[in-house]
Amino acid sequence: MKNKITIVGAGNVGASAAQLIAQKGLGDVVLVDITDGVPQGKALDMAEACPVWGSSSAVTGTNGYSETADSDLVIVTAGLPRKPGMSRDDLLQANAKIVGSVAMEIRRTSPEAVVIVVSNPMDVMAQLTWQKTGFPADRVIGMGGILDSARFRSFVAIELGVSVRDVYALVMGGHGDSMVPLPRYTTVSGIPITELLPEERVDVLIDRTRAGGAEIVGLLKTGSAYYAPAAAAVQMAEAILLDEKRVLPCSALLEGHYGVEGVYSGVPLKLGASGVEGILKLALSEDELQAFKASADTVRSSVEALL
Ligand code: LAC
Repeated sequence: MKNKITIVGAGNVGASAAQLIAQKGLGDVVLVDITDGVPQGKALDMAEACPVWGSSSAVTGTNGYSETADSDLVIVTAGLPRKPGMSRDDLLQANAKIVGSVAMEIRRTSPEAVVIVVSNPMDVMAQLTWQKTGFPADRVIGMGGILDSARFRSFVAIELGVSVRDVYALVMGGHGDSMVPLPRYTTVSGIPITELLPEERVDVLIDRTRAGGAEIVGLLKTGSAYYAPAAAAVQMAEAILLDEKRVLPCSALLEGHYGVEGVYSGVPLKLGASGVEGILKLALSEDELQAFKASADTVRSSVEALL
């Protein structure tokens, strides 16, 4: 049987994710948005591209949730995007209302789904989705670390003049200003970048990674990044739908991992058909651990601000 994938939010991130999923033929896509005509129009356009892509995916659009019933996977992109000068946390109250009601609809219509949360502030929205759906935590996962790591990989590749394919990077912590890029675990074909670049250059690349989302917002002026966020969400979707057991940095509920309890934050984890199939434990230095805990604390205070 074909997989059924619902994407909530037909804005730039949601529509780009739908396109990638249809192009890869990962399953049938239902695009949901409150704006009348927009999910229907974008879905029809993509359905008409499928013959050219050679894809058997059906793509449909709707303003309601009955068409999404019994989805295997739901990707939540609904919410307001950042504008110049805004941090991801500035979206907290507005997006909590939107994502909270989306989560209740998912709980009602797709009780067995794995849910990927993209809306910002992402770690907080992932935690809210987990709470509102009542799903086991391994079925609610946030997208942030792949995007932040992909940005770091791009900047390292540009700096060293090597292919991005040979650069692996790890960014842990929340998908926000307090994220924790780990140069010791960032390598070019296995060689840590700390052996390839002077510390000052590594610091410059880390700063650019931290501000990577804001750099795009500053250029676009009317919204935030979407090609890389959508690509990252679809990498997670593929790992889950194809039961790939990929090890990727994503946001998950920490239950004592890295000394953090009861809060969502970014860690390397194994993704397969049932969602999070294990959180990897890395030996972090005392400084790295402190930075990770500080980042998780910022997520915790936002979660508490919503109560
Ligand atoms: C970014 C936003 C989408 O990092 O969080 O671009």
